[in-house]
Amino acid sequence: MSPPATQQPSPASSSAARTRRSPATVGRRDFLRVSWLLGWLGTLAGFGGASLAFLWPSLRGGFGAVVDIGAEAEIRDGITGGQPPLAYPAGRLWVVPYEQELDPDGLYAAITSGSGLMALYHKCPHLGCRVPWCDTSRWFECPCHGSRYNRWGEWQGGPAPRGMDRFALTVEEGRVIVDTSSVVTGPSRTAAVLDQPAEGPSCV
Ligand code: FES
Repeated sequence: MSPPATQQPSPASSSAARTRRSPATVGRRDFLRVSWLLGWLGTLAGFGGASLAFLWPSLRGGFGAVVDIGAEAEIRDGITGGQPPLAYPAGRLWVVPYEQELDPDGLYAAITSGSGLMALYHKCPHLGCRVPWCDTSRWFECPCHGSRYNRWGEWQGGPAPRGMDRFALTVEEGRVIVDTSSVVTGPSRTAAVLDQPAEGPSCV
């Protein structure tokens, strides 16, 4: 009597067996996929947080916003009597004394609001360098290409197309407030009001 014939699996059932995954394999792959996705989401969240942190100073009141730069009395005391102007780097500006009686046509009256103070944008209107104060000439003098401006930021020489740009300044409840969200274009080369020759040697 011959032994019973061994039943061979059909090619189709063999292939199905090969492609069928165990529950453990499926679970591990899903876990890896979810982990990868969470990793990407974490990276994106970190990037978004870093961007917000970078922008936060201007949202809080740095350059590009309305800035409270300090107590009026302290600022006024610090820049009068021949002292240098106040540099306020966070707002990218200088604050200078503004004597309205020297501006009979009131060219700067609107942006100073009767405060006796004027805010100048420290960016040179030529090619954008920061313009420092020169203690000897008592002018602003740009180290990049030599543009010079009197103490009200009015053009006195060099390649700049106009005087320094500025910002509207007000005094509210004893605080000096500067609106750096809007740049007021500086006066033309020929519009200088202040008669202030250089008071000493140039710095550039
Ligand atoms: Fe100031 Fe050119 S950037 S003179």
